[in-house]
Amino acid sequence: MIIIKTLEQIEGIRKSSKLAALTLEYLSKIIKAGVSTEKLNELGHKFIVDHHSIPAPLNYSGFPKSICTSINNVVCHGIPSVDEILKEGDIINIDVTTILNGYYGDVSASFPVGKISKEAQNLINITKKCLNDSIKCLKPGKLLNDCVGKIIEPIAKKNNYSIVRELGGHGVGISFHEDPFVYHFDTSQEKVVLKEGMIFTIEPMVNASPNSKITLDRNDGWTIRTLDGSNSAQFEHTVLITKNGSEILTTL
Ligand code: MF3
Ligand code: CO
Ligand code: CO
Repeated sequence: MIIIKTLEQIEGIRKSSKLAALTLEYLSKIIKAGVSTEKLNELGHKFIVDHHSIPAPLNYSGFPKSICTSINNVVCHGIPSVDEILKEGDIINIDVTTILNGYYGDVSASFPVGKISKEAQNLINITKKCLNDSIKCLKPGKLLNDCVGKIIEPIAKKNNYSIVRELGGHGVGISFHEDPFVYHFDTSQEKVVLKEGMIFTIEPMVNASPNSKITLDRNDGWTIRTLDGSNSAQFEHTVLITKNGSEILTTL
C-alpha cells in the first residue's frame, strides 16, 4: 500500500531529508586519499546525532554502521571499515538516511577521490543524468515506470552501461522502505500511477559494463559488488509528488 502523506508528514520528511542532504554535503568535503571509510562513518554519525537525529542504517536488519560507503566495484551497502582507505582514482558512493522526529530522509551520491579516469567520471555523470532526467518527468497522473524505468534504462544502455535490476528505489518517510518498489529498468509489471503526496526515492545503480551481474558478499551479508569487477555508481534523492510535478526533498 502506497501512503499518501499528510501536510504534517511532508513537513517532517522535508526536514529529515534536508538534514540527510546536509550530512552528505558535509561528508563529501572530507573525501580524500588516505581517509578511511570508518572515519566517514564516525563523522557522519556524529553530525547526524548532533542534529538530534538518528542514522537509520545503524542496526537496520543488523547493518553494523551509520552510513553506507561503496567504493568502485561495490554497487551498494558497503560497510565502513578502518581497513578501507580511500585512494586517488577511486569513486565512492556515500548513502545517508536520517530519522528526525520519526521521519526518514534518504540520499546518496557518488564522488571522485582526487583525480579519476575519464571513464570513471563519465560513469558518474551519466548516473547523475539518469536520476535527474527521471525526476524532471515526474507529475501526477503519469505512470511511475514511464518516468523512471523508461527514462533511465535507455540512458544507461546508450552508454554501454547496465542498470542493476535486483535493487530499486522505494517509498520512504514514515519508515525506511515503504511501497512502491521503484524499478530502474523498463517493466510493464509495475503500474503505479503518480499521485500528489507520494514520497519515494529514485536511486539508480549503474554498472560500467553492458551486462553486469551483481553478487552478495557471503561473509558480511551486505556488500554487493559487480561480478565482473566493473565500476558502479549511484545517485539517490527522496522526492515528493506535488500538484504540478515534483519536489526534491533531499536538497540543501
Ligand atoms: N540507504 C539505502 C537505500 O537507499 C539502504 C541501506 S540499508 C542498510 O535504500 F542497512 F544498508 F543501511
Ligand atoms: Co533508498
Ligand atoms: Co539510501
